[in-house]
Parts: sequence; structure tokens; C-alpha cells
Amino acid sequence: MANMVTSVDGAFAAGGRSGGLSGPADREVFHLLRGLADVVLVAAGTARAERYRRPGADADTRADRAGRGQEPLPRLAVVSRSARIPADQPFLRGEGPDPLLLHPDDADVSDLPPGMVTRSAGRGSVDLGSALGLLHEDGARSVLCEGGPRLLGQLVEADLLDELFVTVSPVLAGGDDLGLLRGAPAMERRIRLHRVIEDDDFLLLTYRRER
Ligand SMILES: NC(=O)c1ccc[n+]([C@@H]2O[C@H](COP(=O)([O-])OP(=O)(O)OC[C@H]3O[C@@H](n4cnc5c(N)ncnc54)[C@H](OP(=O)(O)O)[C@@H]3O)[C@@H](O)[C@H]2O)c1
Repeated sequence: MANMVTSVDGAFAAGGRSGGLSGPADREVFHLLRGLADVVLVAAGTARAERYRRPGADADTRADRAGRGQEPLPRLAVVSRSARIPADQPFLRGEGPDPLLLHPDDADVSDLPPGMVTRSAGRGSVDLGSALGLLHEDGARSVLCEGGPRLLGQLVEADLLDELFVTVSPVLAGGDDLGLLRGAPAMERRIRLHRVIEDDDFLLLTYRRER
């Protein structure tokens, strides 16, 4: 599954980050979905731009996870070609499993700061189907992609997305940071609207892939 936020005019960021588009209901969905996931998948660009941390969970969420046979906390998996992870990246420290770096076979990971586990999938760039296969081998059954738009575009292009959560924020953002599938080729993937919730002018939409 994937979770994204957009302005009404289709921007994925305001002031270079998605946080400017978010609101209380969107944050609640963000945490609820993390609570369900075995792995939170994020592109390195977003992890760097948004200073990503390891996903946490409160006591109730941990109890729910235990009841479903899940680990107490989801693992963060970062997709990168460059393996450029700043030494002060917040996810390198903290509670929970060490984050996974998913990189292509030919990436140079020698300068990676400590605190990450590495797995390779694909050559030149990460083959996302193989990467999801690796996560599955490791026991992951639900993977939540939090972007960015370039990564989501590749997942949709490879038809690897089953469920999409989109918050439409009551903002007209303008600018050039447009399109939740940034850089993806033109395609016509049919998805079904599964649920609509309105909260304080925010629209919380759930779509499912029609197969
Ligand atoms: N609206 C939302 O819901 C939302 C969600 C997330 C992010 N954002 C925003 O989106 C912006 C960043 O998005 P973006 O589209 O520019 O970039 P992005 O998708 O976050 O990151 C692109 C980077 O991810 C890595 N990458 C992606 N696919 C890869 C593959 N197949 N193999 C290897 N590496 C791969 C590469 O990292 P390396 O450079 O390390 O090789 C690439 O430079 C930020 O402004 C962020 O705030 C918005």
C-alpha cells in the first residue's frame, strides 16, 4: 500500500516538503497505516528531505501488532542508488530494527554510516519487484510506501501497488512540485474508489487496484 498527500491542484509538496500539506486527520491516517505495516518503504530523496526517523508505535498499537503476530515496530526500508545517507540522518539511531538500505548490485556502499542493514536488488537501479520479494522472504506481509513521488511512480508502473491512501489537502499550492507519480510514463491504471472520509476540509481517500 502507499500513503500520500496532495494539494487540490496536485502538488506533492509545499515549500519543498509534504508536511505543509498535512493536517490532524492526515497525520492520524499516517500513524494508523504505519501501525499496520511490517515495513515502511521510502525513497532516499524523501528520507533526506524530510529527515526521516525510525517508525515508532504507542502501547496500544504495539499490543494490536502483537495480537496480529507482528514485530512491535515496523522496519524502515530506504531505496537508494547513490547509498548517500548523511551521518546525522535521524533514522540511524533510535528504538526498533536497524533500517534496511535497498540498493542496486553495483552501488558503492562502502561509505554507509553504521546503523543500517544492506540488501541489493537489481542493477543500475533497484528492481522494486525483486526488492519486495526480498522483504517477503524476510517475513514482511504488508509494505507501506510513503513516497516520494518518483518511487511511487515506479511502483505503479510495475503494477506493484494494491491500495492507495491519498489525502487531498484544502490548499492550492502552485509551484512545480506536481504529480504523485513524478517521472512515470503515461499509463492508464484503473483503480477503484473504496472509501471517502471528509474531516475539516481534508478528503481522506482510499483506492484499490482493480485486478
Ligand atoms: N506528498 C507526499 O505524500 C509526499 C511523500 C513523500 C515525499 N514527498 C516529497 O517529495 C519530494 C521528494 O520526492 P522525489 O520524487 O523528488 O524523490 P524520491 O522519490 O523521494 O527520491 C528519489 C531518490 O530515491 C532513490 N530511488 C528512487 N527509486 C529508486 C530505484 N528504483 N533505485 C534506486 N534508487 C531509487 C534515489 O536515491 P539516491 O539519490 O540516494 O540514489 C533517488 O534519487 C520531497 O519534496 C518530499 O517532501 C511528498
